[in-house]
Amino acid sequence: MDGEGASLDRLILEALPCPVLVIDHGGFLIYLNSASERELGVNKEEAISHPLIDILFQGKKFDRKGRYSSALIETLETGREFSLRLEEIKTALHVLPKVFLVDTSILRDRDGGVVGACAVYYNFLRDRKLLKETVMNRLTTVSEQFETIYAFAEAIGARDQYTMGHSEKVAEYARLIAEALGLDEKEVDLAYICGIVHDVGKIGVPENILNKPGALTTDEFKQVTQHPEKGATILSHISWLEDVVPVVLAHHERYDGRGYPRGLRGEEIPLLSRILAVADAFDAMTSDRSYRKALPVPVAINELKRNAGGQFDPRVVEAFMRILGEYKGGEEERGNG
Ligand SMILES: [Fe+2]
Repeated sequence: MDGEGASLDRLILEALPCPVLVIDHGGFLIYLNSASERELGVNKEEAISHPLIDILFQGKKFDRKGRYSSALIETLETGREFSLRLEEIKTALHVLPKVFLVDTSILRDRDGGVVGACAVYYNFLRDRKLLKETVMNRLTTVSEQFETIYAFAEAIGARDQYTMGHSEKVAEYARLIAEALGLDEKEVDLAYICGIVHDVGKIGVPENILNKPGALTTDEFKQVTQHPEKGATILSHISWLEDVVPVVLAHHERYDGRGYPRGLRGEEIPLLSRILAVADAFDAMTSDRSYRKALPVPVAINELKRNAGGQFDPRVVEAFMRILGEYKGGEEERGNG
């Protein structure tokens, strides 16, 4: 009877689309479902019986700000259970951490003793409703505002699949860089929004030019370079996005003054635009495009470093290297251990 119950539980957990992790009272992984392998890039055989902190958090129990890296470990150690807490996880599938929402619970035996803890992870970018109910409440107070941003993102994505995934990654990178540069919470959130909508002006560029595999003619290139202005114009009609407009307008300016549309240089370019430029270039280099395959991460890193002070603000590149280094460093430590 008990045996049948247990196997049905197992089947249900395996069928769930969200990662589910269970740790024992020592913080060691004792169960993970198939979705954990898919979404978190964890290998079941390699992860079971290992400390959760080593498997998903580069051995770091606390983050840069001294908070618990893992809600699951915090629940185990403090008894505090969480509902939809934001958590950054560096999975084997992504260069930088991805944000998930986590529910956690303490596991007790029949006598009420703590035997471990379990967690369910939601990919909030996939579940727009969850995003609306949690993160965006912090970003803005009116939920329609969230819908506006995603309406834009969908509009771009409908024409160019590449741009949609690209916008989300640029937003994630921009958010991390803004945080690493010590900007306040509002600016960090703004960096994310700007990342989502930065290429919205591509709505005004013909599809055959956007997806053209070969080199662009002078006229085609000119049309592409109009997208920051087109984007700024579109966004300027929405009053609560007024802080986003100058950032989007300047996202193709270069630190050395050789960018477009206005040829601004150095500190004349809004800081968030300088952040977007680095985030944008990194994702463009490390993704497959219609005209070339993705470059390896070390090559992209070298390109950013080589262009620090030229195309890019060196302070922004340095902050991004710091973030990348933290995660790379963690992997190396794990590899050696
Ligand atoms: Fe752009």
